[in-house]
Amino acid sequence: MTKPRILLFDSGMGGLTVANAVAKQLPDAHLVYSADNAGFPYGAWKEEALRLRIVKVLGALIARVKPDVVVIACNTASTIAMAALRDAYQVPFVGTVPAIKPAAAQTKSGIIGVLATPGTVNREYTHSLIHTYAFHCKVFLHGAPRLAEIAEQKLRGHAVDMAELKDEVAPVFRKRDGGRTDVVVLGCTHYPLLTDEINEVAPWPVIYIDPSPAIARRVADVAEETVLKGQNHDVPAHGTVILTSARAGGSETLTAYGTMGFPRHEVLEIGV
Ligand code: DGL
Repeated sequence: MTKPRILLFDSGMGGLTVANAVAKQLPDAHLVYSADNAGFPYGAWKEEALRLRIVKVLGALIARVKPDVVVIACNTASTIAMAALRDAYQVPFVGTVPAIKPAAAQTKSGIIGVLATPGTVNREYTHSLIHTYAFHCKVFLHGAPRLAEIAEQKLRGHAVDMAELKDEVAPVFRKRDGGRTDVVVLGCTHYPLLTDEINEVAPWPVIYIDPSPAIARRVADVAEETVLKGQNHDVPAHGTVILTSARAGGSETLTAYGTMGFPRHEVLEIGV
């Protein structure tokens, strides 16, 4: 039976949370992960420059992997580049955007926190999700400057600085008119890597929304609707991570990818 070849893309290790969910949903799929570690972190980039970069990087990755489906496992990239990617390339794309709709369905207090990168928080796309799905809620959006980096350091085996983590997440825990935040959207794919620690520093318990299982179900549906390209021995093997810079690919990083299901690696220098 032909297996779908799925290319997952993020700025760094965050998309591994999505890769993990896709591996559970489609255990036979051929998975190749890619991290634009030369551009990490995406959160602080200017919109237009980042959009151009993402389109160029994906062009090189699609040529190398020849995927059946591409998963943009990054909210920062999905909220600005999805339309440009669909215009530029024929392959089906699945993206991830902050899970505001499910949060609005689950909140009882009507007070929702959204943790995301500074870029995602500023995007028009994110604001229009709130206007459409959570217009009846109070939404506290916070662009956390360091959370993605803290998550990467954790995966590399470093201790998490809990005081710093507490400061990064505190702005979404709010009280208003006798109620308080009861749902927090993890609006960056890196953040589910830190759910236990965030829970520990949170001032009270809340529901955390990690969209990766829903994304994985969507990937399975799209793979089923797609005519698969079939085997190709010139493409990276299942379990390969492609990095855009060898510089940040030290042994701790490669070990982290290995433990998350991607023990092989390649470097694709893109020159953007
Ligand atoms: N994992 C990414 C996201 O979902 C971006 C992290 C970053 O590069 O700042 O938004």
